[in-house]
Amino acid sequence: MGGRTLRLKGLAYGGDYNPDQWPEEVWSEDIRLMSAAGVNFVTLPVFSWPRLEPRPGQYDFDWLDRIIDMLWEAGIAVDLATATATPPAWLVREHPEMLPWNADGVRLEFGSRQAYCPSSPVFREHVAGLARVMAERYGTHPAVRLWHVSNEYGDHVARCWCPVSAAHFRRWLQDRYGSIDVLNDAWGTSCWGQNYIDWGHIEPPRTSMGPINPAQQLDFERFSSDALLELFKVEVDVLHEVTPDLPVTTNFMSMFRELDYWDFAAAEDLVTDDAYPDPADRRSHIGAALNYGLMRSLKGGAPWLLLEQAPSAVSWRDVNLPKAPGQMRLGSLQAIAHGSDGAMVFQWRQARFGPEKFHSAMVGHRGERSRTFQEASSLGAELQRLAPVKGSRVRAEVALVVDWDSWWGLSAPDSLPSLRLDWARQARTWHAALYELGHTVDVVQASGPFDGYRMIVVPNLYLTTPEQAEALAAFASSGGVVVVGPFSGVVDATEKVHDGGAPGLLRELLGVEVDEWWPISDDDRIALAVEGGPASATVWSEWLEVADDVEPVAEYLDGVLEGRAAVTRRRHGEGRAWYISACIDPVALKSVLGTAADEAGLKNRRELPESVEVVTRSDGDADFVFVLNHGSSPTTLAAQVDAVDLLTGTSIRDGVLDLPGFGAAVLTAPVDVALARGIRTPLSTSSAHTEPDQEARR
Ligand code: GLA
Ligand code: GLA
Repeated sequence: MGGRTLRLKGLAYGGDYNPDQWPEEVWSEDIRLMSAAGVNFVTLPVFSWPRLEPRPGQYDFDWLDRIIDMLWEAGIAVDLATATATPPAWLVREHPEMLPWNADGVRLEFGSRQAYCPSSPVFREHVAGLARVMAERYGTHPAVRLWHVSNEYGDHVARCWCPVSAAHFRRWLQDRYGSIDVLNDAWGTSCWGQNYIDWGHIEPPRTSMGPINPAQQLDFERFSSDALLELFKVEVDVLHEVTPDLPVTTNFMSMFRELDYWDFAAAEDLVTDDAYPDPADRRSHIGAALNYGLMRSLKGGAPWLLLEQAPSAVSWRDVNLPKAPGQMRLGSLQAIAHGSDGAMVFQWRQARFGPEKFHSAMVGHRGERSRTFQEASSLGAELQRLAPVKGSRVRAEVALVVDWDSWWGLSAPDSLPSLRLDWARQARTWHAALYELGHTVDVVQASGPFDGYRMIVVPNLYLTTPEQAEALAAFASSGGVVVVGPFSGVVDATEKVHDGGAPGLLRELLGVEVDEWWPISDDDRIALAVEGGPASATVWSEWLEVADDVEPVAEYLDGVLEGRAAVTRRRHGEGRAWYISACIDPVALKSVLGTAADEAGLKNRRELPESVEVVTRSDGDADFVFVLNHGSSPTTLAAQVDAVDLLTGTSIRDGVLDLPGFGAAVLTAPVDVALARGIRTPLSTSSAHTEPDQEARR
């Protein structure tokens, strides 16, 4: 698949375009404004299946032909959707069995989008048919540069419990286990009398009378992710067959629990993401950095593309705050800093009807006078100056493990020591600590590969396989630092507790044994001593027994666990293995991960103001250092560098870098200059330019 890349001049800039929601008179106005704003790439026609095939087998492509030609005449390329996210009403009424069911057995009704069961053979057949017709008609059009399959798989329907899905689930289980005896053993059906004698007796885990078998639940999560992946591949196969040179993507939803994006990314040519950091959350850029780290890592560091973001407000939160002036620009630059070769939005022109009529767009209801258009236009001009960063890669020395099996297992209802240990929150908290230490963080699978990293952090690995345990141990043996979080190494791939208890297959690496979990109830906190300083744990703690060669780094100071180890480390081969047995407060976590990073030879950057993020892309000849001020107030940095700011064209030499609120600079210089490290807080003003304390810090 390596040969199928997105061919565009410069960075991609534009948005979702729905010309069929507008009279054709508006189209020429659209193209004029797109050209004025520097748009070079648009996505269409994502939701237009009923317009393209108004009656079974009768197609109407004239309008799409016209608009694609018009765009191309203006030099605007197209991310062409196969339009399969919205099956037409006629198809649904002809085949009502393709509507999805929820866990209560209620059939979900037509009236929104994604009105399909992922397993439906009828739907799959029609999807393949439309993809083929689209590929044959448009595959050689010079404007078409990327296939956009479906839209945000799983956004509305990620799990389906209908009879068609049930039959598919049974086939999936037969493939996985081969015999019903093996399934009975894997699922531990001897608990609560669930033994099966016939595949036909197995159903998806619909709402039941009590807690559901966790192994059945986990397999249903895996199956459901696979069912959507199969559906995706139906289209990918057709598109690759008809247009072997065009790349294929489907737009992801950042860190999304329902789908294993490692598997999805392997099936596509380009990773694309839809990112909606909440302007009401002053720390949302930190979460964005993790999301983008995942996107960059899904294909081993290859450039990806931010395919959707909001120009300003969205319309699907309870309260939808607009972005402040400059915030959309900064968010775009942050995605690019993290390896996106462009910044696209949803959507081009603000709708006047439908559920998204209050969602912002590049062209707002006020037309070209709208603030979003003004800002979009100046960003378009700036992005042209950033063209040299295209194709360059982000360098990271630390990676965080994201494992969907553990995520799914840890969210099984009704059978865990505590429902408050939230996998995603745990991952975000650990990432935020590394972010605040100044690190750019990649994402990896627990089974590796870990080449090029000095430190691997594992916020949680509830479900651990031998392959993962071996990879982590091998990394430490050869000199790496591994840090593992609480409730890891608990179960195997079939939800069975490892022999001898936690941390199971990680026991030897970490040198600890967990005697019992001690979850912490709602508002309680347990005192700890971490590196001499006071700290606390909430949500989770553990009773640890430690091996002789293990060094306790922090201990519990009160409660039943008083005097027992809370954080440990030990040598493992050339490297080190740390275990953090509790949810320790953010300041303590930052201190522990900072020490582990020191051991790994990483350079923590505590000297940067809290609002400032520094990320480096490099193409081997030049470095591009993105300096981003996520705060709303201005900041001044010392810049002991000799570089050019690509955004302004100005040279910076051993001076200062003034960034307004939400301001940014993209400094470039030859690679051998230690550029990023030259950017620091001026000593005299370090505290004056620090953002006020944020909610998670004490
Ligand atoms: C009840 C049930 C048992 C077991 C326990 C667990 O007592 O009868 O089967 O589920 O609860 O606390
Ligand atoms: C997602 C969808 C778009 C649109 C936006 C609104 O990204 O893909 O079609 O609904 O959300 O934010």
